[in-house]
Amino acid sequence: MVHTLHPLPYSFTALEPSMDALTVEIHYLGHHQTYVTKLNLALAEFPDRANLDLAALQHTVAGSSPAVINNAGGHYNHTLFWQNLAPIGTTNPAPYGELAAKIDEKFGSFDAFKLQFTNAAINRFASGWAWLTVKQDGTLEIHNTPGHENPLMDGIGTVHGVPIMTCDVWEHAYYLKYQHRRPEFIENWWKLVNWDNIVSNYEKYGKRSQAVPF
Ligand SMILES: [Fe+2]
Repeated sequence: MVHTLHPLPYSFTALEPSMDALTVEIHYLGHHQTYVTKLNLALAEFPDRANLDLAALQHTVAGSSPAVINNAGGHYNHTLFWQNLAPIGTTNPAPYGELAAKIDEKFGSFDAFKLQFTNAAINRFASGWAWLTVKQDGTLEIHNTPGHENPLMDGIGTVHGVPIMTCDVWEHAYYLKYQHRRPEFIENWWKLVNWDNIVSNYEKYGKRSQAVPF
């Protein structure tokens, strides 16, 4: 299959002022599109992986090539990242239902969860991602990964399961507006988090140990 960029679910200006339009445009049409293009090129060397969809592909990247790992992860992670966001005021401001209860059970409170996730995002050295992942035993885990690794990649990293929420902490995600101030970017990113999407990811996929099917 030929991998393609998924439509952005809002306009480039829709996430202002937390995420400026130029950053969204360059991030999506520049960085993300490049990962998609390079993924298709890299997969030419691995015909046994040619028919896998993007989610299934993640499980098989170990043992392929750095180009497949980086660009498969880059495509999957960014697709989840965009869908996790929404214009300010258009979704529930906090988790609800069973996911809210699981967050309280695991982390103590929503505020404690936010603090731990923020620290995972701030403390990822250099480029990477922060995650909320549903592990195979059904418990939640906050963690981070380097580069474009993700918790779907069998044999890579230490936490495995279904990621339902992510924050991109590569400098390209925030440098134009926030420069070196990653904590300020993350503080503003929280205002954009689409809890309706994340609750849906948990209910439809996380509870069933199925990757969100991009
Ligand atoms: Fe990115």
